[in-house]
Amino acid sequence: MNRKNIVLEHSLQQAIKIYSNADDASVYVANKIAQIIKTKQEKGNLAVLGLATGSTPKGVYKELVRLHQSEGLSFQNVVTFNLDEYYPMHPVEDQSYVSFMKHNLFNHIDVPKNQIHIPDGTLELNAIQAYCDLYEKKIADFGGLDMQLLGIGRSGHIGFNEPGSLQGSMTRLVQLDDITRKDAADDFGGAEHVPTQAITMGIQTIVQAKQIFLLALSERKAEIIKKALKGEISPEVPATFLQQLEHVEYVLDQKAAALL
Ligand code: GLP
Repeated sequence: MNRKNIVLEHSLQQAIKIYSNADDASVYVANKIAQIIKTKQEKGNLAVLGLATGSTPKGVYKELVRLHQSEGLSFQNVVTFNLDEYYPMHPVEDQSYVSFMKHNLFNHIDVPKNQIHIPDGTLELNAIQAYCDLYEKKIADFGGLDMQLLGIGRSGHIGFNEPGSLQGSMTRLVQLDDITRKDAADDFGGAEHVPTQAITMGIQTIVQAKQIFLLALSERKAEIIKKALKGEISPEVPATFLQQLEHVEYVLDQKAAALL
């Protein structure tokens, strides 16, 4: 191993936090997010949070709701941008990420509704690119994301940046990978009913966040976590682009970390 590799290996070890169970990992991330919100509150500033969906962040949201309901954490100064949404998708559908976010977080906290942003799955095809450019502009106008929460798909995706996504990619319409559609099959009553497309923030949008937490839980993620953290940096596993960053923490339970 040459010196450069040793340095990289050392900083990677520092970036990995392994917890004995999913609840402890989730509480750690929730506390980090709460700290960002409170620090911004003290200065009278907005906290701009990039949020994720999927089963993985549910425990983080549960703890944030608890902090709001039992410990008085306010979300009045919070602005949110979700990573992605299926396309086409109507917000009232059970499978929409709008429904997911309401059910798991927004309905239970005091974040002002006009400070919530989730990609719109109802647009006409020819209106999507302008909408995506505006999504980027809105994030930039708020001063960028203070934090981005990420899960990871078994295809190696972050957001819906599937294999083949470029490092410089921005918010856009993408095709979903077969593995991703298979993993979403239960939610839609069969893989054939899962939309084939989605709107997602790009890799570039994500890496610009000031702090990134990638959360991975359970043995289902062990293999892709090994590739994402230790594999060669490549568009074939989009999560590998995070290896180049210093402001990312990989928060894992022991099962997801099993192959590291
Ligand atoms: C979806 C989301 C991703 C998420 C992934 C993993 O595809 N768009 O942002 O990371 O699912 O899902 P889960 O956490 O359920 O394993």
